[in-house]
Amino acid sequence: MSTGTLRDYSIRPEVLNIEKYVAGKPISEVKRDLGLDEVIKLASNENPLGCSPKVKEVLKKTIEESALYPDASSYELKKAIAKKLKVEQNQIFCGAGSDSLIRVICQTLLNPGEESIMGEVTFARYEDNTKLMGGTVVKIPLKDNFLDIEAMVDRITPKTKIIWFCNPNNPTGGMFTQKELDRVLGRIPESVYIIMDEAYYEYVTDGDYPDSIKLLPEYPNMIILRTFSKAYGLASLRCGYGIAHGELVQYFNRVINAFDVNLFAQTAAAAAIEDDDYLKLVHESNKKEKEYLFDAFKDMNLPYIHSNANFIMVNINGDDMKIFDYLLKHGVIIRPGFLLGMPGWIRISIGTRYQNEKFLKALEGALQV
Ligand SMILES: Cc1ncc(COP(=O)(O)O)c(C=O)c1O
Repeated sequence: MSTGTLRDYSIRPEVLNIEKYVAGKPISEVKRDLGLDEVIKLASNENPLGCSPKVKEVLKKTIEESALYPDASSYELKKAIAKKLKVEQNQIFCGAGSDSLIRVICQTLLNPGEESIMGEVTFARYEDNTKLMGGTVVKIPLKDNFLDIEAMVDRITPKTKIIWFCNPNNPTGGMFTQKELDRVLGRIPESVYIIMDEAYYEYVTDGDYPDSIKLLPEYPNMIILRTFSKAYGLASLRCGYGIAHGELVQYFNRVINAFDVNLFAQTAAAAAIEDDDYLKLVHESNKKEKEYLFDAFKDMNLPYIHSNANFIMVNINGDDMKIFDYLLKHGVIIRPGFLLGMPGWIRISIGTRYQNEKFLKALEGALQV
């Protein structure tokens, strides 16, 4: 007779071995729970300016085609990306966010027991998806809060299958340069896949950022990941893309869900990647607001990590959960560092001037409690 309960042993051990991903709190939830009228979210590295007006126009028209399945091959979107990046269309693969593609990469490449090397503090989905496939997670401590790519490469063994280079690294925001990358590339065997996760690429202000696309012809084991969720302001639509050797892409395409990228995401992303002016505006605004926040943290004597992305990791030298709770009650959602592997720190996404001022005012209050 059934007891009406599930037995743990019927679930794959790999699933029992992972935790549910903790996302940034949605604004609606905080308003509901705390009875607040105004809540700002600086927790998930979204674009506070939203998407391009041209994209909004395209989205309105797309409503008319809602009843149809989307193009399973995302042809027009891949064409637009390939044109922009000057690569072949068959080198592009698309998914419901680069999150989906991180899973696809693990599903396609990782055999049980194979190693996946990543920073000790980096994007959590590399670990989750490695474990899901029965792979072994190898974490390398950061060096002065930056990804230590030398030490990561030193750790490669015959069992290593994937090395995750998150650049700029989430949640720390720091980046490694072309020179630093050049120093390690020659030591990575062809059997190891190099993932260049460039989710924040469009925000980078440092001229020494690596030109990974140029490296692709020489490194067929390199896979670049980018997304429309950040600078393009389309996080809710879920669209990310990868660039890799055409042969490898064929295998990824076998694993990606047929309709992973919905029609709204396809049309919006294709229009977004063509709007250079809007991207420039987003980049400039983020740069200006980043400097504004850096100056404010200096004035408050709060150490921070020099970010090349649209978020900043700040050392509050205290209980980050307490600060998080205080800010939440004052209508500002941020990420407490303990959730990201850095207790004593908080990560804030760079907002508009209005949002940043509101955050700083609340933070001053929080630090006095
Ligand atoms: C480094 C990095 N990679 C990938 C992603 C996934 O983004 P999305 O699935 O929205 O494309 C994120 C999201 O925060 C990220 O920070």
